[in-house]
Amino acid sequence: MDRNLGINLVRVTEAAALGGAMYLGKGDKNRADKAAVDNMRNMFDTIDIEGVVVIGEGEMDEAPMLYIGEEIGTKGMGYQKVDIAVDPIDGTNAVAKGLNNAIAVCALAPRGAMLAAPDMYMDKLAAGPKAKGVIDIDASVEDNLRNVAKALNKNLSDLTATMLDRDRHQYIIDVCRELGVRVKLFQDGDVDAAIATCFEDSGVDIMFGMGGAPEGVIAAAAIKCLGGDMQARLKPMNDEEIARCKKMGAAYETKLTIDDLVAGEDIYFAATGISDGEFTRGVRYLGENKASTQTLMLRGKTGTIRYIDAVHQLDKKPEYAK
Ligand code: FBP
Repeated sequence: MDRNLGINLVRVTEAAALGGAMYLGKGDKNRADKAAVDNMRNMFDTIDIEGVVVIGEGEMDEAPMLYIGEEIGTKGMGYQKVDIAVDPIDGTNAVAKGLNNAIAVCALAPRGAMLAAPDMYMDKLAAGPKAKGVIDIDASVEDNLRNVAKALNKNLSDLTATMLDRDRHQYIIDVCRELGVRVKLFQDGDVDAAIATCFEDSGVDIMFGMGGAPEGVIAAAAIKCLGGDMQARLKPMNDEEIARCKKMGAAYETKLTIDDLVAGEDIYFAATGISDGEFTRGVRYLGENKASTQTLMLRGKTGTIRYIDAVHQLDKKPEYAK
């Protein structure tokens, strides 16, 4: 894929973050999400690709824009045919409450490379490059902690495990505490947390737990670019969700490796902070119609990690939602 697609993805996630951040702490997650979706969709309309949304805002009848299967981009002759995974806001509740870890995020890969995950829960396990090959979602929490500690050359007491603060994760927390492993809980936004395991200075070494399946595929795209590892398993909760897995051809009993989640390395990924997160700063309003953003941009093929700081003159960007 053309390497300039990466910078275009940055424009897309910056636009979404600027939309969502307008509603930071204002208690209205729906308006925040709509502003982020509108901005992201408008920006995609300026990009020379033939894109298809594989991970989006929901099925066609549930979402007016960025729905699964929607064709986006300017769709000109000879433009690249790509699959797109989007989450205009990962952490809508976090945005509504003004909490950390909300990002606007997007991944792009050749057709068929990303798992078309249904919108349901997924069990996830993620760790950084030094622990690649040692995590196993079929193994116990204790074995995974011990294996990651060994790979990182750390004592268990120096290891930090992170997970969503949910009752369903209490059994993981209990094992961590029994072994003396530090636990870092977060309220929302497991894409940010999963990716953080790939940055040694983030302070988190392994992420466990159940969260959204679409977010799992997006996180896997970034982790692949960063050389880390992830495994997952879809968790349909009822017959209707099992039927959806079957309809979408998604295996729900089997372990999904990072290659099952995202095949190959021809991947672009961008995440712009809405609120402050583990690897990006949130949007700052600077006065005089200016706002700054920080974006992490990744290219799988070359392993390049870029941080892009931008200052936006908002009154000169009519395409952004007001
Ligand atoms: P949304 O932005 O779609 O609300 O997702 C936020 C999130 O925290 C995800 O990052 C995570 O995967 C999922 O929700 C967890 O779901 P739940 O809140 O039901 O535990």
